[in-house]
Amino acid sequence: MPAYFSAEIMPRPPLILAVESSCDDTGVAIIRGDEVLSNVIANQSIHEDYGGVVPELASRAHAQNIVPAFTKALDESGVKAAELDAVAYTNGPGLMGSLHVGVAFAKSWAWANGIPSIPINHMQAHILAHFLKPGPHPSFPFLCLTVSGGHTQLVKVRSALVMEVLGETRDDAAGEAFDKVAKLMGLPYPGGPVLDCLAQSGNPTRFPFSKPKVQGLDMSFSGLKTQIWQFLQQGQQNNSRFIDQNKADIAASVQHTILSILMEKLESAVEQSGITAVAIAGGVSANSGLRKALKDREMSHGWKVYIPPFEYCTDNAAMIAVAGLKVFESGEKFGLDIEPSPRLKLPSD
Ligand code: KG4
Ligand code: ZN
Repeated sequence: MPAYFSAEIMPRPPLILAVESSCDDTGVAIIRGDEVLSNVIANQSIHEDYGGVVPELASRAHAQNIVPAFTKALDESGVKAAELDAVAYTNGPGLMGSLHVGVAFAKSWAWANGIPSIPINHMQAHILAHFLKPGPHPSFPFLCLTVSGGHTQLVKVRSALVMEVLGETRDDAAGEAFDKVAKLMGLPYPGGPVLDCLAQSGNPTRFPFSKPKVQGLDMSFSGLKTQIWQFLQQGQQNNSRFIDQNKADIAASVQHTILSILMEKLESAVEQSGITAVAIAGGVSANSGLRKALKDREMSHGWKVYIPPFEYCTDNAAMIAVAGLKVFESGEKFGLDIEPSPRLKLPSD
């Protein structure tokens, strides 16, 4: 039982307010212990017109969204502002301008209300989303494949606060590969969920793409994107409606290749580490094919798998809040001089 829960120090689970603004979603959440009381996300649709996130527009939209998102989160939680125990906020990795908005808001709010503020690593929070209710919560150590729009890593999670990167992409992230291929196919942004949806009615082996040979547990996705670009160009040369007529099979084949790369590396990580408790986290963990592949390994390989609920896969502030809870329980304190850190690394020993 963490010290803060003891009756003399804190007779109830901590109430944590969290702010997430690392990319293009403005999130504010309130949790009581591991229970989510509110989890507000203001998505920024403006980027759809550009086929990707425009950093300057993202920062401006965060500045507009953050106070309404905060007010809504407080209302929905039924908590009074004066009851909050700490404010957690994403300080990296992410887009500098976007991070600045959330960091400034969270630190100012904490200072004005006389409560601690806690900087949180966005990727660590994706992993710790597994410690929100309803669970089950993994026990340590476990392996986590973190797959988002900006990161793809195989992580040995030793504790909530100590994580070791076993392997990672050398170039594009898995989510980026989904988004870039979708863009080449003329599909809307973000392309991951659109490809996932199309793939469900397609043939995953119709168009075989080759997988890169990368040593160890590292991965690579940029060559695949170039290969698919060439393949689509060729197809369109022979038939101008090639993409349109084959989009389900193309989506299924692309998804199959990306997931094979991820699953092969994940299987090697399990073999090498001997750890069979395996989680996935980040936006791409919403992918139906990846979720199924993981469940299949539970049956065939005897893994214990942890798949996050959909609302905690893509960016949200509830995951920042639970990471904040873990740090709050550790008793570590932070000053108001913490700055955004766009390339922040996972906390290791
Ligand atoms: O974690 P996230 O919300 O933001 C970052 O931290 O980057 O991840 C966003 C990424 C995008 O690349 C998006 O296309 C991808 O997650 N994504 C998916 C799915 N849902 C979101 N990729 C494949 N299948 C999905 N169902
Ligand atoms: Zn994320």
